Amino acid sequence: MTKVTLHQPDGRVDTLDVADGTSVMRAALTASIPGIVGECGGQAMCATCHVYVRDEYLDQLPDMSEDEDEMLDCTASPRDDHRSRLGCQITLSTALDGIEVDIPATQI
Ligand code: FES
Repeated sequence: MTKVTLHQPDGRVDTLDVADGTSVMRAALTASIPGIVGECGGQAMCATCHVYVRDEYLDQLPDMSEDEDEMLDCTASPRDDHRSRLGCQITLSTALDGIEVDIPATQI
């Protein structure tokens, strides 16, 4: 199991325990966390799973694919050049245990 903490713009904080191999997007949807839409089902084709990863976890993230990079130019909330990632492209595992992300104000 891996812990992921999601911070809402209004200050709400949710910490989830999820099975390794689950994406941040899927973990949020399964727990009915507001602010993550996941319209394309995790295919890196919609950018409605946009999250801002907190600085201390950036080094542990997998490299960004070209597709993810392109989709991050289409986010509804502004892209942060360092912290923006697609939640569907972050697969949780012990290496990322405790990761914290901020959910943008809007996804659509
Ligand atoms: Fe569509 Fe992540 S769910 S890009």
